[in-house]
Amino acid sequence: MHKNVIITGGSKGIGKAIALELAGAGFNIAICSRNGAEGNQLIAELQNINAHGQFKAFVCDVKIKQEVVQFASFVKDFFENKIDVLINNAGTFIPGLITEEEEGNLEKMIETNLYSAYHLTRELIGLMQHQKSGHVINMCSIASEIAYPNGGSYSISKFALLGFSKVLREEMKPYNVKVTSILPGATWSDSWKGVDLPESRLMQAEDIAKIVLCALTLSDSATLEEITVRPQLGDL
Ligand SMILES: NC(=O)c1ccc[n+]([C@@H]2O[C@H](COP(=O)([O-])OP(=O)(O)OC[C@H]3O[C@@H](n4cnc5c(N)ncnc54)[C@H](OP(=O)(O)O)[C@@H]3O)[C@@H](O)[C@H]2O)c1
Repeated sequence: MHKNVIITGGSKGIGKAIALELAGAGFNIAICSRNGAEGNQLIAELQNINAHGQFKAFVCDVKIKQEVVQFASFVKDFFENKIDVLINNAGTFIPGLITEEEEGNLEKMIETNLYSAYHLTRELIGLMQHQKSGHVINMCSIASEIAYPNGGSYSISKFALLGFSKVLREEMKPYNVKVTSILPGATWSDSWKGVDLPESRLMQAEDIAKIVLCALTLSDSATLEEITVRPQLGDL
């Protein structure tokens, strides 16, 4: 039976690259994003890759707990309570220094980058615990392990997400549920549009998608716990 995957923020960038890679490998996929048109466009692309796959997009703002709960309920119905992989990928980057950034930036990034993963995981993990199988992948960042320059509150939120991921890894060991933290450096996506740098200076979203597929295809006895991946020339 093909595995069912949920990707938050699956309509663009890294999330979209993961969806395309996993659709090609035979996974069924449900994504969420705020922009419904972009989500539906991706679903059409996935259906072209695998006409027999089950694919669905849901409109949801992961900053809002109630919408996360609705998304969880939607995917439980769509996949008939069998969820194999949850990829907490949605995130936002607002540059700034802790001391100078706009009031409210910390809250926005904590809500989008941390609480979304916390709440969605809590909604869905019971199914994986019951199945005694499953995999949660959290899209952290190099800003989860270094104080990212001009990324004050972003770093705070991504350090916290890595903390969440490490704790979840320990809690899930007895249930045979795997937990992986991915820490990418600069990866070409909309967040980098307009930056005066050649695209080749950054990693490609497809690079991260390949790591996800690798994590998902290891044997049952191996878990890729944490992986840091940077552009060949280092951080930006
Ligand atoms: N690109 C990098 O250099 C880099 C490096 C390290 C880590 N990361 C992490 O990787 C993840 C993906 O980043 P990306 O660069 O691929 O970003 P991106 O191109 O901006 O795409 C973000 C995706 O998340 C969705 N999204 C954003 N806010 C959302 C919200 N509040 N509710 C629901 N969906 C939301 C977006 O769709 P809508 O806008 O339609 O909602 C989109 O599908 C993030 O967690 C980011 O922090 C990125």
